Amino acid sequence: MKVAVMGTGHVGLVTCVAFASIGHDVTGTDVDAEKIDALRRGVSPFYEPGLDDALVREIASGRLSFTLEASEALRGAEAVFICVGTPARADGEANLLAMELSASAIARHGGDGAVVVEKSTVPAGTADRVRLTLLREGDGRTFHVASNPEFLREGTALNDSLEPDRIVIGVESERGLDVLRRLYEPIIHSGARLIVTDIRTAELAKHASNAFLAMKISFANALARLCERTGADVTAVADVMGADPRIGRAFLNAGLGYGGYCFPKDVAALERLGARLGYTFTLLQEVARLNEESVEAAAGMVEEALWNLGDKRIALLGLAFKAGTDDVRFSPALALARRLLASGAHVIGYDPRATRAAKEDLPELELASDPYEAASGAHCLVVATEWEEFRSLNLPALHELMAYPVIVDGRNLLDPAEVGGAGFWYYPMGRPPVLQDGSPSSNVERRPTGERTAALGPVEIAG
Ligand code: UGA
Repeated sequence: MKVAVMGTGHVGLVTCVAFASIGHDVTGTDVDAEKIDALRRGVSPFYEPGLDDALVREIASGRLSFTLEASEALRGAEAVFICVGTPARADGEANLLAMELSASAIARHGGDGAVVVEKSTVPAGTADRVRLTLLREGDGRTFHVASNPEFLREGTALNDSLEPDRIVIGVESERGLDVLRRLYEPIIHSGARLIVTDIRTAELAKHASNAFLAMKISFANALARLCERTGADVTAVADVMGADPRIGRAFLNAGLGYGGYCFPKDVAALERLGARLGYTFTLLQEVARLNEESVEAAAGMVEEALWNLGDKRIALLGLAFKAGTDDVRFSPALALARRLLASGAHVIGYDPRATRAAKEDLPELELASDPYEAASGAHCLVVATEWEEFRSLNLPALHELMAYPVIVDGRNLLDPAEVGGAGFWYYPMGRPPVLQDGSPSSNVERRPTGERTAALGPVEIAG
């Protein structure tokens, strides 16, 4: 099938490559000339595992091309995917200008009978505006509007696209359903669940899914605050909760909280949508507040460990918003860096992929080229992103290099017994700290069972 994809950001580019790889004839278009230039040469503008190779392969197959001219991409396309950005406005509502511009271009250049598919995450009701724009600016051609939200995660995007848990199709016409069903046939055939709904339901389902996952994370982080005060271990609490299939263990990892280009903006956009329509979704306000509180909690731990932050050196391991990406947008690691810098500390950051992006976002950040350089002379090391390589740090070498042997584990990535055994003062999130002074600290006094739990190691659930 001939497919046009408007917008070649994370969702758009992965969509291009995924559709080409299942045999469709795909043209991607974007208003950013530099990006299109790079894509034509087979270079992805962002890091995504496996994407560069797949991009080169699909271009070489002749099934994938890129153009700056929307009219060229739209010519003869049976399905047009709108994958443009929907960033948050200052008031939290989604900025839908790029959606409108895309719809205008389709109205002018799209073919009669084309199915116009929203893939960008948009507030429920956006398709109505898209339809109106197509009607108002088209010259009598028929378009079929549909919603097909994307559930891919950065870092595993290609795989998520080609082997999704579910394909959600919101349609209002037989033609819309037929085209999308044919398009996804190979993926449906290999077992993905197809869910067909009306358009508003599909739009809302995407926002609801992201907001719910964010809520799970904020719930875990609120529990972490309670665990810190009771001496319980939030990781073990999450294991117990997650053993119930009605709850599920995923997205109950306490830490610095969620970041990235999706959860923060989608939680705000859903809350704002409710407010605009007369429903106050206070739960979502609280989800966002708890997320900010998580960064503050980590900063509090650094202060607890170091007393005064002025002129202290803090090594920050992980700057991306999560592992597996070079994306620093709304990164909790950078939010923590800002907070520590504001308190007078020197922050030396390291990330396997995101140092350049982090420096652009936060020029005050000093950068190191590996974890040991970052830790050299540091009074505290903070693990801020769950990169695999941080799990196997050489602890004795770090101990040797650092001014104080203090680790704040903002992602609960390290093994408390191992870190404690290497002589570190270890402060995880929502778990008992490991202290080396032999006397109960003010923290431990609030957590009478803390040290015992840490010594026992992670709780195992048999069966
Ligand atoms: C998220 C959703 O998971 C995707 O399904 C969705 O398609 C995507 O947004 C989107 O709307 O485009 P993504 O932002 O790539 O994907 O990242 P996630 O893996 O969901 O992680 C989001 C944030 O939550 C990260 O900062 C991560 O560190 C944090 N997180 C995740 C936690 O703090 N705790 C957890 O238990 C899980």
